[in-house]
Amino acid sequence: MARARSVFRCTECGAEQPKWAGRCDACGAWNTLLEEAVGRPGARAARTGPLPSARPPVRLADVGGAAAARWRTGLAEFDFVLGGGIVPGSIVLVGGEPGIGKSTLLLQCAARLEQAGVATLYVSGEESPEQIRLRADRLGDDAGAVRVLGETRLEAIVHHAAALAARVVVVDSIQTTYTDELEGAPGNVGQVRECAARLMRFAKDAGPAVLLVGHVTKGGGIAGPRTLEHIVDTVLYFEGEATLDHRILRAVKNRFGSVDEIGVFEMTGAGLAPVANPAAAFLAGRHTGVSGSAVTALMEGTRPMLVEIQALASKAGFGTPQRVATGLDHRRLAVLLAVLERRGGLPVGDLDVFVNVTGGVRLLEPSTDLAVTAALVSSIHDRPTPPDALFLGEVGLGGEIRPVAGVERRLVEAARQGFRRVFCSARSRVTPAGLDVVGLEGIGELARRLAA
Ligand code: TYD
Ligand code: MG
Repeated sequence: MARARSVFRCTECGAEQPKWAGRCDACGAWNTLLEEAVGRPGARAARTGPLPSARPPVRLADVGGAAAARWRTGLAEFDFVLGGGIVPGSIVLVGGEPGIGKSTLLLQCAARLEQAGVATLYVSGEESPEQIRLRADRLGDDAGAVRVLGETRLEAIVHHAAALAARVVVVDSIQTTYTDELEGAPGNVGQVRECAARLMRFAKDAGPAVLLVGHVTKGGGIAGPRTLEHIVDTVLYFEGEATLDHRILRAVKNRFGSVDEIGVFEMTGAGLAPVANPAAAFLAGRHTGVSGSAVTALMEGTRPMLVEIQALASKAGFGTPQRVATGLDHRRLAVLLAVLERRGGLPVGDLDVFVNVTGGVRLLEPSTDLAVTAALVSSIHDRPTPPDALFLGEVGLGGEIRPVAGVERRLVEAARQGFRRVFCSARSRVTPAGLDVVGLEGIGELARRLAA
């Protein structure tokens, strides 16, 4: 009788190693290798070789155009992030920290799909049908018609989904799902991967869309293998600050749409509500007329978003001045402060400096440099920036201000939100409707303009 084989798999990257080691060869993570028994599927494949595919090859021209159809959930921001709705036969992973609202979002989707006549099955391995009912009672959407199943065994899930001919199957979560064919507890890397792969095959063969919930670890990856991201068609991350009501759904991979698109929701007492004016969602609550604030426009996928940057510079009490950056890289802040001092002639060496991006947004583009600098200058001089001004530009080490990409779209959005002038590089070739352009050569000019 063949002895059960076992391998060691990295919980970070999913790489397989024949023997245990302290460090994963593939990704370099420490203490991530776990033993995993390789069960019957491997043995069977070794004995029989690959099975012929159940479906013969077809010419592309003969493939039906049904794949172009999508199911819209009617949750506008969710459909937008997916690229226009759920694609039949696709598998979508919705990742996020516990408590962020993944189950709520998918239950709302199921409710809306069911109302639109798309048969759905909501499988939960985390909550009983009674608990799901309690959640459903809070929702604004009527989820009464959604079929729910408290189940964690993959074979049972697939059986029920097929028997009901469900068009959309929600599996909450992939970490609680297991298959009989592998040893090892639910949530271990082998189980997670195998279950996802089997659900993928089920989706491709039988045609339903599968929405998978995946919990995210401290490091930010979907708990267990990152290889899960390679198996599925679409990966969405649901993010937000625990203390804020805004939730952001972000597409990090999408075989059927563009990536980096975001949808903005608000968590209310009756579930998640798409935000009506996402571009300005993060400007809500802005105080105009206060020094140390500047607004810029970021690109999130194809969508411009306006964000406020706040800076506070005050005389350091003693010792090394403090530099605290929330929502941007502290090294970027250090660079901008050095440029401000050397090229802009503003002494910042003995100031405590705090910079904050409101709404829990993270600045990743250099196009936001000018706004950060403007907020700093405004705070140092204690003079507010004009309330209707937008700042858009990259700051170089020489103090020069550079044009940024995608200006046109950002400015159209800014004008729509009531902004009337834009501070940008003098080299920007822009002719925005309804906006006055203040072209700047360098950071010194910015400091002079804001002090005037
Ligand atoms: P949940 O969907 O359970 O999160 P996840 O599945 O990602 O772990 O969301 C739970 C949180 O959302 C919980 O703290 C309660 C809150 N919530 C509301 O604020 N309003 C609502 O209508 C619902 C259903 C939940
Ligand atoms: Mg949940």
